[in-house]
Amino acid sequence: GMQAGFLRCFSPLRSCRSLHWRLNALRYSSNVARIVSHDKFNEVLEINYKGETKKIGLRWLRDHCRCDSCLDQRTFQRLYDTSQITDDFDSKKVEIDSSSNQLKVEWRNGHFSTFRMDWLHEVTQIKAESTQYDVLSNYKLWNRASFKQQYPEVSYNDVMNGARGIAKWIEMIHHFGFAIVSGCPPLPIGENAASREVMEKLGTLKRTFFEPEGVWDFTVKPKEQDKQMEHADTAYTNLTLPPHVDGTYFSEAPGLQFFQIPQHDGEGGETVLVDGFQVGNHLKRHAPELFDYLSSFPMPFHYYEKGISLRNTSTVFTMNRDKFLRFTFNNNDRMPCYIPVDQERYHYDSIAWLIKELNDPKNQISFKLRPDQLLVTNNWRVLHGRKGFTGSRRLVGAYIGMSDFLGTGRLVQSVPPEAQKQ
Ligand SMILES: [Fe+2]
Ligand SMILES: [Zn+2]
Repeated sequence: GMQAGFLRCFSPLRSCRSLHWRLNALRYSSNVARIVSHDKFNEVLEINYKGETKKIGLRWLRDHCRCDSCLDQRTFQRLYDTSQITDDFDSKKVEIDSSSNQLKVEWRNGHFSTFRMDWLHEVTQIKAESTQYDVLSNYKLWNRASFKQQYPEVSYNDVMNGARGIAKWIEMIHHFGFAIVSGCPPLPIGENAASREVMEKLGTLKRTFFEPEGVWDFTVKPKEQDKQMEHADTAYTNLTLPPHVDGTYFSEAPGLQFFQIPQHDGEGGETVLVDGFQVGNHLKRHAPELFDYLSSFPMPFHYYEKGISLRNTSTVFTMNRDKFLRFTFNNNDRMPCYIPVDQERYHYDSIAWLIKELNDPKNQISFKLRPDQLLVTNNWRVLHGRKGFTGSRRLVGAYIGMSDFLGTGRLVQSVPPEAQKQ
């Protein structure tokens, strides 16, 4: 049941030594909350909990009421009409129920709110500016010298055997922007279900006009280069592909991209990867005015084929405060647009510099994927390219949207859903 408010019971208890000692022990060694002050004039509450004192506004508390009429308990959607807040937030009574460790607030209009202290503690750690993409800022920049032929790798068995293996895989993708799953089962021609099963561990595959079912599976054969390509893209040829990210022309570029080469009976075709954030970081330090241009100019990209017309603009380097969030560039897909003459020099100096860095071997890693290896890249960060090849080469792949991938990560790392549960 509800005990007397902490403030009121504190003074009388002080005279009783043993109770006082017990109370202090509770306060400092366990997680019993204490109201430090209740400033009615400014409507601010100061609460000490888990060794830290935090100021919480009463408007905020009223807006975050967890009761049945303010919050839908099945969907965690807000039912409270926040426009009522100026009439509602005036508090009549505020107390801590120390037995259940809950903050109880009675409002002027008679409404009653209860907050679990653990919930309050958790929710007040969440910063608005870092809720959506914060995990993406946990990256380690790399170039060719960073790896000694040992790339981030996880085994097929690990990722198929539960959350721990998947969590490890996701962590590698956050750190390096790519990871390889080794030991995947063979994919006979015409079959890719085994590959799909691994890819779906990280989220729902994205359906696009390239592949309405989500997985692409095609073989480039010699002497078929002049025939009709499946789509209007050099990915469907055996030519060298310079490092790029995919889908610069989508309103939101694909978050993850998978690559598996189950069969190749010729030479070449090595995969090339570049860390777009590392290149950006280098530019920021050595040519800040070019970096400023590439992180502010809305570069247009496009894709055309019969029946399809896509366009998007994006800065090459998109930042989330002082961290890199997204790299967007594919020179082949850059769309014609007018550049004012006074901008022209910056425009071309920065693009030329960028392309030189992306093609500089010191920034590239390169390896030939084995048939049992499935590569995944963070397509918002790591560029992929391919060396030209001979013979028949089969490519299986797919995309996952960034929202889906980040959602999988939260669930696997068992972060409670927005810490909303009462
Ligand atoms: Fe590509
Ligand atoms: Zn309520």
